[in-house]
Amino acid sequence: MNVLKRSFYCMTLLSFAYFNIQCKGEKKGDNTSEEMPQSKKMVTISKAAFGVTADSVQVDSYTLKNQQGMEVQIITYGGIITSLKVPNKAGVIEDVVLGFPTLAQYEKSSPYFGALIGRYGNRIAKGKFSLDGTEYTLATNNGPNHLHGGEKGFDKVVWSAEVLDDEGALKLSYLSKDMEEGYPGNLKTIVTYTLTEDNALEVFYEATTDKKTIVNLTQHSYFNLSGDFSKTILDHEIMIKADAFIPVDKTLIPTGELKEVANTPFDFRTAKPIGQDIDVENDQLKNGLGYDHCLVLNNQNQGIRLTATAFDKASGRFMEVFSDEPGIQLYTGNFLDGTLPSKQGGTYAYRTGFCLETQHYPDSPNQKKFPSVVLDPGETYKTKTSFKFSTK
Ligand code: BGC
Repeated sequence: MNVLKRSFYCMTLLSFAYFNIQCKGEKKGDNTSEEMPQSKKMVTISKAAFGVTADSVQVDSYTLKNQQGMEVQIITYGGIITSLKVPNKAGVIEDVVLGFPTLAQYEKSSPYFGALIGRYGNRIAKGKFSLDGTEYTLATNNGPNHLHGGEKGFDKVVWSAEVLDDEGALKLSYLSKDMEEGYPGNLKTIVTYTLTEDNALEVFYEATTDKKTIVNLTQHSYFNLSGDFSKTILDHEIMIKADAFIPVDKTLIPTGELKEVANTPFDFRTAKPIGQDIDVENDQLKNGLGYDHCLVLNNQNQGIRLTATAFDKASGRFMEVFSDEPGIQLYTGNFLDGTLPSKQGGTYAYRTGFCLETQHYPDSPNQKKFPSVVLDPGETYKTKTSFKFSTK
């Protein structure tokens, strides 16, 4: 078993262990368990038409709602989370993810709001990588580099949906054909969103291929826990369990080095406001125009574990991010510039949303020392991330 396979195997075992703990002893798929029907079946799932794409494909929305009033709306276009409503400390339920009022706007120009990202989340230098001596060329859709799967990545395709009522889950499937966007292999992808009664939204990714390929899937929600998208996220307090981060060049490609966060603005090991160090004199912050960096998470290969938290003091909303991934991209909405329309009216100003994108490191296919993103036929790519909400 190669390292990737081993880590997936480990991650899967531990991820299921975690899942069972989260569900207070219930066993997934075990219908003999008395506790099981209660917690999961309380989630209701409804379907509605959301719109029709420019090339006439019907797009549906699914709304998952639990007994606590937490509600998430997901559309089949891009598997996008278009809204995520959670209570504040006074019990007021508000939307905490940026998004657009219409499908047309998602199609026209979206900075990946709420979307599933694939086949490769983050950048690949010059859009090139090799497998077994064959070089593959991808779109260079971000300056000289490839970003988030290319011109028509997983964020821009329409997924097939299946409601898993007993699980409180929505299962999305997409077959990415051999050489689609330049990637080898027919990649069968399944992403399952599950809403739990303890206010967690779990995202479980699976993929198989018929040819050696690369894969690195993620979720690109922009959070603003205040519920008011006219406010910046600079006073949100973030904690990330990472002793190191990945320095990048001016085009945001890793230099190959892993740098200790100690004594840098990238030290989030103790929670601090995003805005505390974001404007200090620092070459890395200059390259990213703020935070746009992958942090190297601690305790790798130990399955799903707490990786990051975010806290908005005014609303009291607290989000915990659990994942089995080795990295997390902290992106602080540095490219939001007041031109995109907000679903709350007005436009999205600079730094009004932040992303915590769990993933393998950027440009891994070209960096031999980074954990592998290669998927072989016969293997199953499996990874899980959970966003859990509460108040403090
Ligand atoms: C990237 C940013 C990019 C953004 C797209 C993030 O994942 O790291 O550089 O601008 O996605 O909106």
